[in-house]
Amino acid sequence: ITVIDPAGSTYRAEFVRAYHELRKHKGMTAEEAATAMEDPLFFAAMLVKQGVADGMVAGAVNSTGNVLRAGFQIVGTAADAGIVSSCFVMVNPSWPYGEGGKLVFADCAVNPQPDAQQLAEIALATASTARVLCGFEPRVAMLSYSTAGSGTGPDVDKVVAATELVRSKAPGLEVDGPLQLDAAIVPEIGLSKAPESPVAGKANVLVFPDLDAGNIGYKLVQRLAGADAVGPVLQGMAKGVNDLSRGCTVADIVNVAAITALQSEG
Ligand code: ACO
Repeated sequence: ITVIDPAGSTYRAEFVRAYHELRKHKGMTAEEAATAMEDPLFFAAMLVKQGVADGMVAGAVNSTGNVLRAGFQIVGTAADAGIVSSCFVMVNPSWPYGEGGKLVFADCAVNPQPDAQQLAEIALATASTARVLCGFEPRVAMLSYSTAGSGTGPDVDKVVAATELVRSKAPGLEVDGPLQLDAAIVPEIGLSKAPESPVAGKANVLVFPDLDAGNIGYKLVQRLAGADAVGPVLQGMAKGVNDLSRGCTVADIVNVAAITALQSEG
C-alpha cells in the first residue's frame, strides 16, 4: 500500500494550483486554496479528482457535511446525475421483508428537502445502487403517509409527481407511490390497501420523502429492529466518495472501502 501524507506530499503544489483553478470563479484566492489543501478531506478529494486514487473513504473523525462539501467541490457530480444522494443497505437476515433480509433506504444522509425532481433522481440512483451492491432487481416504494390517495396534501402531491417522473424516466422499473411503509413491505397490507400495485407488499427499496423521515427511519430500524446499517453509500458523485459514521468500527471501514472499490469499477 502506498501511503501519502498531505503534509509532506510532492502533489501539494500541483493540487493547490488545480484547486484554485477549479474554485476561482467562486472568488477563491490562491492563499485559500493552499489552506484548503492542508485539510486531509480536501487533499484526498483532489487525489481522486486528479486520478491518483480511485476513491475516497472519510468521516471517522469528520462530520458528514464536511466530507460531502469536499466531495461536492472537488470530485463533483457525475455527468449523468443532477444531484448526489445516499442510501443505506439495512440488513437483518431474520426479516420476512424485503429481499433475503435486505432493504435499501434512501435518502437518509444528504438532501434535506428534495423536490419532486430530486426525489425522482434519488429513486433512480438507489435502484441502480441496489442492483450493483445487492445484486437484486429493485422494487421501489415511494413512501408517504398516504397509500393510493388515502391522504392528501402538498407532501403527498410531491411523491405523486416524483413517482410519475421515475416511471417516465425508467419505464421498465417496478416503482409505485405514494405508499405507506406497511403497505410497501407487508404482503397482506399491500394487498388490501393497494391491490393493483406491482410493488406494494414486496418493496425492497424504500425512498423516503425527505431527510427527516429517512434519517430518523434508518436509525429506528437500526436501533429498535437490530438491523445492520451499511452506509451511507453515496450515489451520483463523479467518482467513489463515501462517508463513515464517527462511531465506525474497523469492520465498517473495511465494508465502506469495499463498496467504494465496487463503485469505482462501475
Ligand atoms: N448534490 C450535488 N451537489 C450538491 C448537493 C447535492 N445533493 N448539495 C449541495 N451541493 C453543492 C452545491 O451545488 C454547491 O456547489 P458549488 O459550491 O460548486 O456551487 C456546494 O455543494 C455547496 O452547496 P450549499 O447549498 O452551500 O450546501 P451546503 O454546503 O450548505 O450543504 C450539505 C451541503 C452539507 C450536503 C447539506 O445539504 C447538509 O448538511 N446535508 C445534511 C447532512 C447531514 O447532516 N446528514 C445527516 C447526518 S448523516 C448520518 O446520520 C449518517
